[in-house]
Amino acid sequence: MKTLYLGALLAIITQSPATAEDRVSLPENYRETFVEYLSLDRTQNHDQFIRLFADPVAIQGTDDSGELPAGSVLVGEVYSVLKDENGEIVNTALGRRISNKMVLIAVMEKNDGWADTSSSPIDVGDWDFAAYKPDGTSAGKNLDACRACHSPLKASDYLFSIEHLRTTTD
Ligand code: HEC
Repeated sequence: MKTLYLGALLAIITQSPATAEDRVSLPENYRETFVEYLSLDRTQNHDQFIRLFADPVAIQGTDDSGELPAGSVLVGEVYSVLKDENGEIVNTALGRRISNKMVLIAVMEKNDGWADTSSSPIDVGDWDFAAYKPDGTSAGKNLDACRACHSPLKASDYLFSIEHLRTTTD
């Protein structure tokens, strides 16, 4: 009986829309089809660098609601940075870090109604998150940590870099 119960529980867990990786996949060929809109030393991680890519929807910038439209996908390639023989981070003449190895691919995707079907109580609007290893398999991250850090940014559609996406039409 115990085994049966455990089995049923496992079935529920694996069938529920719990993990964001279920609905936020790693976009294929994003290097070719997305636009790299910003690359910077990470602001909250002193030994990392990030390259940010936007899909053709997100790169159009905010719509009349002041938010990015449904269908927006953003990818952040996270890199370690070069260190010298003493383990100190190397800074260039520009005062910038030098990206070394890709360590994580962070993805945010927005779709209509996702806020209502979220597996998490943390408010991130219609966005959801996923994190992949460079080989494309799940990085097994606690996605509530992603949500918790982005959640306070409701005024900028839960994004740190929204102003770097196109906000005007010319
Ligand atoms: C401690 C805070 C924090 C956590 C945790 C965090 N992020 Fe972010 N995120 C940021 C910051 C700050 C930026 C802006 C770029 C930078 O400095 O790294 C950012 C940028 C992004 C972007 C580009 C869009 C934007 O908001 O500018 C994506 C995509 C993203 N994060 C996904 C994730 C995913 C997926 C996770 C969890 C695996 C995650 N983030 C966890 C702080 C966080």
